[in-house]
Amino acid sequence: MQKTELYMREICDDDVADVIKLWEHCGLLRPWNDPQTDIAFCRQKPNSTLLVARMPEEEKLQASIMVGHDGHRGWIYYLAIAPAHQGKGLGKQMMQAAENWLLDQGVWKAQLMVRYGNEAVKAFYNKLGYEQSQCMVLERWLDASKRGDA
Ligand SMILES: CC(C)(COP(=O)(O)OP(=O)(O)OC[C@H]1O[C@@H](n2cnc3c(N)ncnc32)[C@H](O)[C@@H]1OP(=O)(O)O)[C@@H](O)C(=O)NCCC(=O)NCCS
Repeated sequence: MQKTELYMREICDDDVADVIKLWEHCGLLRPWNDPQTDIAFCRQKPNSTLLVARMPEEEKLQASIMVGHDGHRGWIYYLAIAPAHQGKGLGKQMMQAAENWLLDQGVWKAQLMVRYGNEAVKAFYNKLGYEQSQCMVLERWLDASKRGDA
């Protein structure tokens, strides 16, 4: 596959509304995750970032990925490629950028979560070398008022 050129950078204030629209188009929004809060929280912290990208000939953002580390391992969230640009290698490039960001921070293992039953996305990550962990993810809502369905 010929590599599609991408202009990648960290999110800025003017991007926030467009990134939320992108997530909506990609089906990433959940009622219990307020995207404004998630973006603001990520941007406040030195151990996380939200990368966005566009094609050279287009002003509109076409891709995003959130990456951070918890002091031990790296975590990746909100990978989104605009539907019209899926299947062109952009997802792979965004993942490589997130992995490079983690390596620069001294983190050598990346983890991410895929919903049970989302076989297409699992197949994409498998293609990139991500394997099912031998550990279960356990969770507890520390603030019950924020509780969602998953
Ligand atoms: C999942 C998603 C990020 C993939 O991005 P993409 O740009 O379409 O994927 P790419 O074109 O970069 O594909 C990279 C490689 O994975 C392969 N691949 C992509 N989707 C695949 C699938 N469903 N099954 C098997 N392989 C797949 C490609 O063939 C390509 O292989 P190659 O490197 O050998 O050519 C994109 O479809 C998307 O944004 N989906 C909606 C949001 C979403 O579900 N995000 C993930 C949240 S966990």
